[in-house]
Amino acid sequence: MTVTLELFQNVEDTTVRKRVNLDNKEVQEYLDGKLQYILNHRSVQHPLLNYYCKNAFTKEQEKKFYLECYYYFQYEPFYITGMAMNTRDYKILREIILNVADEVGGDVPHSELFRQQINDLGISNEEIESYQCLPTTTAINQGAMKLYNEPPIEKNLGALFADESMSAVLASQFNQGLENQGYDRKVRKHWLMHLAVEVGHSNNAFNAIAPYVVDPKGRELFEEGINTYLELLEAYWDGVDAIVRGEAAGN
Ligand SMILES: [Fe+2]
Ligand SMILES: [Fe+2]
Repeated sequence: MTVTLELFQNVEDTTVRKRVNLDNKEVQEYLDGKLQYILNHRSVQHPLLNYYCKNAFTKEQEKKFYLECYYYFQYEPFYITGMAMNTRDYKILREIILNVADEVGGDVPHSELFRQQINDLGISNEEIESYQCLPTTTAINQGAMKLYNEPPIEKNLGALFADESMSAVLASQFNQGLENQGYDRKVRKHWLMHLAVEVGHSNNAFNAIAPYVVDPKGRELFEEGINTYLELLEAYWDGVDAIVRGEAAGN
């Protein structure tokens, strides 16, 4: 499936966070424009991800691909929670808490569901623990921590908006890749669920930032967060592509 702007605008699932209605239509159009920019960005529509949707990986390629992802996503809910210390706005706090509650509020945290998915692919916990990830993977993990935790909040929310909107696309790409590889719904359940969850998370960021991007200064900081995140993401996927496809990378 293609992840479009409309998916974020028209949420029908009652368990998924909707956008707040904005009186200021100019702000809404501005944020829609930024969302569209993120959805189309090379880091989100990366050649490796487009390749993976339609082409099977070897077992070795698959292992590297998911182990790098594991180290990219690791500790993300902690970083998002840290963002709360850069604001005293309860509306922002609410969006952050709703976001993180999805990640850790269920019987099993999402990080554990992802680990189980990796285990289902035949990658053991020992292999996960002993894996040495790429410097570009460490860079996006540590970069996200900084982007979420160093003030101002507008920049934090720019990074979150980029991250969560991208994640909606990524859930769809991973689901397609795994399905193409022949994995059943049980293995894909983490991503099937996240198609909707990540739309809600992007809407969390949308709701939190809306009052702060009425003026050019707020927009500048917000965009700085978006762009820094997407730069880290592009370097991350280029790095993974180089070890997964090698010579063919970048095609
Ligand atoms: Fe999640
Ligand atoms: Fe998310």
